[in-house]
Amino acid sequence: MSRSQSSPQTDVKTGVSTDTRESEREFRLHQLAKLGELAGGLAHELKNPLSTIKLNLQLLQEDIASVPDLDTSRARVQTLRREVDRLHQTLDSFLKFAGRIELDRQTVHVNSIIRDMIDFFNPQAAAHQVRVYASLTDEDLKVSLDINLFKQALLNMMLNAVQAMPSGGDLIIRTGVHDSTLILDVSDTGVGMPPSQLPRLFEAFYTTKKGGTGLGLATTRRIIEEHGGHVSVQSEPGRGTNFRLELPLRAQEKASVPVN
Ligand SMILES: Nc1ncnc2c1ncn2[C@@H]1O[C@H](COP(=O)(O)OP(=O)(O)O)[C@@H](O)[C@H]1O
Ligand SMILES: [Mg+2]
Repeated sequence: MSRSQSSPQTDVKTGVSTDTRESEREFRLHQLAKLGELAGGLAHELKNPLSTIKLNLQLLQEDIASVPDLDTSRARVQTLRREVDRLHQTLDSFLKFAGRIELDRQTVHVNSIIRDMIDFFNPQAAAHQVRVYASLTDEDLKVSLDINLFKQALLNMMLNAVQAMPSGGDLIIRTGVHDSTLILDVSDTGVGMPPSQLPRLFEAFYTTKKGGTGLGLATTRRIIEEHGGHVSVQSEPGRGTNFRLELPLRAQEKASVPVN
Protein backbone atom coordinates (compact mmCIF):
# COMPACT_ATOMS: atom_id res chain seq x y z
CA MET A 1 0.00 0.00 0.00
CA SER A 2 1.66 3.18 -1.17
CA ARG A 3 -0.13 5.37 1.34
CA SER A 4 1.91 4.04 4.24
CA GLN A 5 5.11 4.99 2.48
CA SER A 6 4.09 8.49 1.56
CA SER A 7 2.76 9.28 5.04
CA PRO A 8 4.62 7.21 7.61
CA GLN A 9 3.16 7.05 11.12
CA THR A 10 4.35 10.30 12.56
CA ASP A 11 5.11 9.04 16.07
CA VAL A 12 8.46 7.78 14.80
CA LYS A 13 9.50 11.36 14.21
CA THR A 14 7.84 13.19 17.07
CA GLY A 15 9.80 12.96 20.29
CA VAL A 16 6.65 14.33 21.93
CA SER A 17 4.67 11.12 22.07
CA THR A 18 7.57 8.95 23.21
CA ASP A 19 6.95 9.54 26.94
CA THR A 20 3.26 8.74 26.71
CA ARG A 21 4.05 5.75 24.60
CA GLU A 22 6.55 4.50 27.16
CA SER A 23 4.31 5.00 30.16
CA GLU A 24 1.45 3.26 28.37
CA ARG A 25 3.75 0.37 27.55
CA GLU A 26 5.01 0.15 31.14
CA PHE A 27 1.44 0.21 32.42
CA ARG A 28 0.32 -2.56 30.10
CA LEU A 29 3.34 -4.74 30.81
CA HIS A 30 2.80 -4.30 34.54
CA GLN A 31 -0.88 -5.23 34.24
CA LEU A 32 0.00 -8.28 32.15
CA ALA A 33 2.66 -9.41 34.60
CA LYS A 34 0.03 -9.43 37.36
CA LEU A 35 -2.53 -11.08 35.10
CA GLY A 36 0.07 -13.62 33.98
CA GLU A 37 0.50 -15.01 37.49
CA LEU A 38 -3.23 -15.55 37.89
CA ALA A 39 -3.58 -16.85 34.35
CA GLY A 40 -0.78 -19.37 34.81
CA GLY A 41 -2.42 -20.79 37.92
CA LEU A 42 -5.85 -20.90 36.38
CA ALA A 43 -4.59 -22.49 33.16
CA HIS A 44 -2.90 -25.22 35.16
CA GLU A 45 -6.15 -25.91 37.03
CA LEU A 46 -8.11 -26.05 33.78
CA LYS A 47 -5.69 -28.09 31.75
CA ASN A 48 -5.76 -31.23 33.87
CA PRO A 49 -9.54 -31.72 33.84
CA LEU A 50 -9.61 -30.78 30.16
CA SER A 51 -7.08 -33.51 29.38
CA THR A 52 -9.16 -36.01 31.34
CA ILE A 53 -12.31 -35.00 29.47
CA LYS A 54 -10.47 -35.29 26.17
CA LEU A 55 -9.12 -38.73 26.90
CA ASN A 56 -12.47 -40.04 28.08
CA LEU A 57 -14.27 -38.65 25.05
CA GLN A 58 -11.78 -40.43 22.87
CA LEU A 59 -12.41 -43.71 24.71
CA LEU A 60 -16.16 -43.18 24.53
CA GLN A 61 -15.89 -42.59 20.82
CA GLU A 62 -14.05 -45.89 20.43
CA ASP A 63 -16.60 -47.69 22.63
CA ILE A 64 -19.54 -46.62 20.49
CA ALA A 65 -17.77 -46.65 17.14
CA SER A 66 -19.41 -49.84 15.89
CA VAL A 67 -22.55 -50.01 18.03
CA PRO A 68 -25.60 -49.97 15.72
CA ASP A 69 -28.21 -47.15 15.92
CA LEU A 70 -25.93 -44.71 17.73
CA ASP A 71 -25.28 -42.26 14.92
CA THR A 72 -26.71 -39.33 16.86
CA SER A 73 -24.60 -40.15 19.90
CA ARG A 74 -21.50 -40.47 17.73
CA ALA A 75 -22.18 -37.05 16.25
CA ARG A 76 -22.60 -35.60 19.76
CA VAL A 77 -19.34 -37.07 20.95
CA GLN A 78 -17.65 -35.67 17.86
CA THR A 79 -19.03 -32.20 18.66
CA LEU A 80 -17.85 -32.50 22.25
CA ARG A 81 -14.35 -33.45 21.11
CA ARG A 82 -14.20 -30.52 18.72
CA GLU A 83 -15.30 -28.07 21.41
CA VAL A 84 -12.83 -29.46 23.94
CA ASP A 85 -10.06 -29.00 21.39
CA ARG A 86 -11.20 -25.45 20.87
CA LEU A 87 -11.11 -24.78 24.61
CA HIS A 88 -7.61 -26.18 24.74
CA GLN A 89 -6.48 -23.95 21.87
CA THR A 90 -8.08 -20.86 23.38
CA LEU A 91 -6.34 -21.59 26.64
CA ASP A 92 -2.99 -21.96 24.88
CA SER A 93 -3.53 -18.74 22.91
CA PHE A 94 -4.53 -16.91 26.07
CA LEU A 95 -1.40 -18.11 27.85
CA LYS A 96 0.74 -16.90 24.95
CA PHE A 97 -0.83 -13.49 25.40
CA ALA A 98 -1.10 -13.27 29.18
CA GLY A 99 1.36 -15.86 30.47
CA ARG A 100 4.74 -15.16 31.95
CA ILE A 101 7.17 -14.12 29.23
CA GLU A 102 10.89 -14.42 29.71
CA LEU A 103 12.77 -13.27 26.67
CA ASP A 104 15.48 -15.61 25.47
CA ARG A 105 17.41 -12.96 23.57
CA GLN A 106 19.98 -13.47 20.85
CA THR A 107 21.59 -10.89 18.63
CA VAL A 108 20.33 -11.60 15.13
CA HIS A 109 19.95 -9.99 11.76
CA VAL A 110 16.29 -9.12 11.40
CA ASN A 111 16.31 -9.52 7.62
CA SER A 112 17.37 -13.15 7.92
CA ILE A 113 14.47 -13.86 10.30
CA ILE A 114 12.07 -12.22 7.89
CA ARG A 115 13.41 -14.30 5.01
CA ASP A 116 12.96 -17.46 7.10
CA MET A 117 9.39 -16.48 7.87
CA ILE A 118 8.61 -15.76 4.23
CA ASP A 119 10.00 -19.15 3.14
CA PHE A 120 7.91 -20.81 5.80
CA PHE A 121 4.77 -18.83 4.96
CA ASN A 122 4.94 -18.77 1.16
CA PRO A 123 3.09 -22.06 0.50
CA GLN A 124 0.24 -20.99 2.76
CA ALA A 125 0.04 -17.57 1.11
CA ALA A 126 0.17 -19.08 -2.38
CA ALA A 127 -2.73 -21.37 -1.49
CA HIS A 128 -4.78 -18.19 -0.93
CA GLN A 129 -3.55 -16.41 -4.09
CA VAL A 130 -1.42 -14.08 -1.99
CA ARG A 131 2.02 -13.02 -3.25
CA VAL A 132 4.58 -12.17 -0.62
CA TYR A 133 7.16 -9.46 -1.34
CA ALA A 134 10.08 -8.35 0.77
CA SER A 135 11.74 -4.97 0.48
CA LEU A 136 14.56 -5.18 2.98
CA THR A 137 17.07 -2.47 3.72
CA ASP A 138 20.77 -3.16 3.18
CA GLU A 139 21.58 -1.66 6.55
CA ASP A 140 22.87 -4.05 9.17
CA LEU A 141 19.82 -4.62 11.33
CA LYS A 142 21.25 -6.63 14.19
CA VAL A 143 18.74 -6.66 17.03
CA SER A 144 18.59 -8.46 20.33
CA LEU A 145 15.50 -10.64 20.00
CA ASP A 146 13.73 -13.67 21.28
CA ILE A 147 13.58 -15.31 17.87
CA ASN A 148 10.61 -17.61 18.49
CA LEU A 149 8.47 -14.89 20.03
CA PHE A 150 9.40 -12.41 17.33
CA LYS A 151 8.44 -14.95 14.66
CA GLN A 152 5.14 -15.48 16.44
CA ALA A 153 4.51 -11.72 16.42
CA LEU A 154 5.21 -11.57 12.68
CA LEU A 155 3.21 -14.67 11.89
CA ASN A 156 0.10 -13.27 13.60
CA MET A 157 0.22 -10.25 11.30
CA MET A 158 0.91 -12.33 8.20
CA LEU A 159 -2.04 -14.60 8.98
CA ASN A 160 -4.30 -11.58 9.43
CA ALA A 161 -3.09 -10.15 6.14
CA VAL A 162 -3.96 -13.32 4.24
CA GLN A 163 -7.34 -13.51 5.98
CA ALA A 164 -7.99 -9.90 4.93
CA MET A 165 -7.47 -10.82 1.25
CA PRO A 166 -10.15 -13.44 0.54
CA SER A 167 -9.62 -13.17 -3.22
CA GLY A 168 -5.85 -12.86 -3.05
CA GLY A 169 -3.52 -9.87 -3.16
CA ASP A 170 -0.10 -8.70 -2.07
CA LEU A 171 1.57 -9.02 1.30
CA ILE A 172 4.59 -6.75 1.53
CA ILE A 173 7.24 -6.71 4.25
CA ARG A 174 9.61 -3.77 4.42
CA THR A 175 12.45 -2.94 6.75
CA GLY A 176 14.18 0.37 7.30
CA VAL A 177 15.96 2.41 9.95
CA HIS A 178 14.94 5.72 11.46
CA ASP A 179 16.75 7.36 14.41
CA SER A 180 18.29 4.14 15.78
CA THR A 181 14.96 2.42 15.44
CA LEU A 182 14.18 -0.55 13.26
CA ILE A 183 11.02 0.07 11.25
CA LEU A 184 9.23 -3.03 10.03
CA ASP A 185 6.08 -2.63 7.94
CA VAL A 186 3.73 -5.48 7.17
CA SER A 187 1.17 -4.37 4.64
CA ASP A 188 -1.58 -5.96 2.64
CA THR A 189 -3.89 -5.00 -0.20
CA GLY A 190 -6.89 -6.43 1.61
CA VAL A 191 -10.27 -5.25 2.83
CA GLY A 192 -8.87 -2.62 5.20
CA MET A 193 -10.71 -1.21 8.20
CA PRO A 194 -12.70 1.94 8.98
CA PRO A 195 -11.08 4.33 11.49
CA SER A 196 -13.70 3.40 14.12
CA GLN A 197 -12.30 -0.13 14.31
CA LEU A 198 -8.68 0.82 14.91
CA PRO A 199 -8.77 1.76 18.63
CA ARG A 200 -9.97 -1.73 19.62
CA LEU A 201 -7.65 -3.71 17.40
CA PHE A 202 -5.01 -4.66 19.96
CA GLU A 203 -7.51 -5.47 22.71
CA ALA A 204 -7.53 -9.09 23.83
CA PHE A 205 -10.56 -10.99 22.46
CA TYR A 206 -11.47 -8.31 19.93
CA THR A 207 -12.35 -10.13 16.72
CA THR A 208 -14.64 -9.69 13.73
CA LYS A 209 -14.04 -13.24 12.53
CA LYS A 210 -16.25 -16.26 12.99
CA GLY A 211 -14.12 -18.57 15.12
CA GLY A 212 -11.43 -15.90 15.65
CA THR A 213 -9.74 -15.72 19.05
CA GLY A 214 -9.03 -12.00 18.96
CA LEU A 215 -5.69 -12.74 20.59
CA GLY A 216 -3.37 -12.43 17.58
CA LEU A 217 -2.68 -8.71 17.65
CA ALA A 218 -2.86 -8.49 21.44
CA THR A 219 -0.10 -11.11 21.54
CA THR A 220 1.91 -9.32 18.85
CA ARG A 221 1.78 -6.08 20.80
CA ARG A 222 2.71 -7.82 24.04
CA ILE A 223 5.75 -9.46 22.41
CA ILE A 224 6.93 -6.25 20.73
CA GLU A 225 6.45 -4.20 23.91
CA GLU A 226 8.35 -6.80 25.95
CA HIS A 227 11.21 -6.06 23.54
CA GLY A 228 10.89 -2.32 24.24
CA GLY A 229 9.19 -1.69 20.91
CA HIS A 230 5.96 -0.25 19.61
CA VAL A 231 3.20 -1.34 17.22
CA SER A 232 0.89 0.89 15.20
CA VAL A 233 -1.56 0.54 12.34
CA GLN A 234 -2.82 2.46 9.37
CA SER A 235 -5.71 1.26 7.28
CA GLU A 236 -8.05 2.30 4.54
CA PRO A 237 -11.26 0.42 3.76
CA GLY A 238 -11.08 -1.28 0.40
CA ARG A 239 -7.37 -0.49 -0.03
CA GLY A 240 -5.44 -2.32 2.64
CA THR A 241 -3.70 -2.17 5.96
CA ASN A 242 -0.21 -1.46 7.21
CA PHE A 243 1.07 -2.66 10.58
CA ARG A 244 4.27 -0.99 11.71
CA LEU A 245 6.65 -2.46 14.27
CA GLU A 246 9.34 -0.24 15.75
CA LEU A 247 12.17 -1.80 17.70
CA PRO A 248 15.14 -0.06 19.26
CA LEU A 249 18.52 -0.69 17.64
CA ARG A 250 21.46 -0.14 19.93
CA ALA A 251 24.09 2.20 18.46
CA GLN A 252 26.71 -0.52 18.15
CA GLU A 253 24.14 -2.79 16.49
CA LYS A 254 23.48 -0.31 13.71
CA ALA A 255 26.54 -0.63 11.55
CA SER A 256 26.56 1.56 8.46
CA VAL A 257 28.26 -1.08 6.31
CA PRO A 258 25.86 -2.88 3.97
CA VAL A 259 25.57 -6.60 4.74
CA ASN A 260 25.17 -8.06 1.30
N1 LIG B 1 -4.59 -7.02 8.03
C1 LIG B 1 -5.84 -6.80 8.47
N2 LIG B 1 -6.78 -6.30 7.63
C2 LIG B 1 -8.04 -6.07 8.06
N3 LIG B 1 -8.46 -6.31 9.33
C3 LIG B 1 -7.57 -6.80 10.20
C4 LIG B 1 -6.22 -7.08 9.83
N4 LIG B 1 -5.56 -7.55 10.90
C5 LIG B 1 -6.45 -7.57 11.91
N5 LIG B 1 -7.67 -7.13 11.50
C6 LIG B 1 -8.89 -6.99 12.33
O1 LIG B 1 -8.47 -7.07 13.69
C7 LIG B 1 -9.20 -8.11 14.36
C8 LIG B 1 -8.32 -8.71 15.45
O2 LIG B 1 -7.23 -9.44 14.89
P1 LIG B 1 -6.52 -10.55 15.78
O3 LIG B 1 -6.17 -9.97 17.09
O4 LIG B 1 -5.43 -11.16 14.99
O5 LIG B 1 -7.67 -11.61 16.05
P2 LIG B 1 -8.41 -12.62 15.02
O6 LIG B 1 -7.52 -12.75 13.81
O7 LIG B 1 -8.53 -13.90 15.79
O8 LIG B 1 -9.74 -11.99 14.72
C9 LIG B 1 -9.61 -9.06 13.25
O9 LIG B 1 -10.75 -9.81 13.61
C10 LIG B 1 -9.89 -8.10 12.09
O10 LIG B 1 -11.16 -7.54 12.21
MG1 LIG C 1 -5.45 -13.01 13.86
